[in-house]
Amino acid sequence: MAFWAKGRSVSAAASFDLTVKTYAVFEAVSLALDGKTVLDGISLALSERRVGIVGLNGSGKSSLARLLNGLRLPTNGKVRLFGADTVSVAAQLPRHVGFVFQNPDHQAIFPTVEEEIAFGLTQIGHDRTSARAEAVGFLRRHRCEFLADKPIATLSEGQKQLVCILAVLVMQPCILVLDEPMTSLDGLAAKRILQKLQSLDQTLIMVSHDLSALTGFDRILWLEDGRIRMDGVPGDVLPAYAADLDRRAAAEVWEGDGL
Ligand SMILES: Nc1ncnc2c1ncn2[C@@H]1O[C@H](COP(=O)(O)OP(=O)(O)O)[C@@H](O)[C@H]1O
Ligand SMILES: [Mg+2]
Repeated sequence: MAFWAKGRSVSAAASFDLTVKTYAVFEAVSLALDGKTVLDGISLALSERRVGIVGLNGSGKSSLARLLNGLRLPTNGKVRLFGADTVSVAAQLPRHVGFVFQNPDHQAIFPTVEEEIAFGLTQIGHDRTSARAEAVGFLRRHRCEFLADKPIATLSEGQKQLVCILAVLVMQPCILVLDEPMTSLDGLAAKRILQKLQSLDQTLIMVSHDLSALTGFDRILWLEDGRIRMDGVPGDVLPAYAADLDRRAAAEVWEGDGL
């Protein structure tokens, strides 16, 4: 679940322009964590509805995703979302840019599904009593009413991830950033979650190792060692990335990098 400070949003919220087509701009962005450069000189302007991010483990995908909703702030350069510098609006960003983690257990914090969804509603101004009732209505609209009183701990992995997605969606963000949302799911749950995501009106920015999930996207960013190795349409980037994986698999011995 993503948080932001209530009551601090008035002046900063005014600096978001949710109507801009180019919703995210990275200007020469670098990010260092514990003294290690994990993103280096990233410049980007995103305006597409469906953006995929691919790359090997450690290439910086999660770090880039987190920069998009203020979970991380750049060490150098600027990240702007809807025209606002994330440094000055980080606390308000999750209202507009929802984040879904790879592992649902890292996101869900309430005992039941209804409470998890209701919490999101309280974050956008509903009082607690009306939020519980609205949460059930929201679950019904998503044909998930049957989950309402279920303890989250008892759900299947697919159901948990669906609840995490709904808990973000209930806050009506313009953008959903998803960091490998299907990785812990079995094949059927992964298909169902992907169908759900594809049906959404929101802009999606999704990190995935499942290249087939990204074929219908508008744009793919391929990260390598904290830099953008390739940026283009799926028909160009995905085959190039897949060929690079094949080349590495054929060339590398089973030690060091590549495992
Ligand atoms: N909190 C952290 N402290 C130090 N290094 C980190 C931290 N988080 C990630 N890293 C390093 O940053 C690099 C990029 O990580 P990450 O963005 O998670 O890549 P990916 O999602 O592509 O696997 C990796 O080398 C990782 O070890
Ligand atoms: Mg990652």
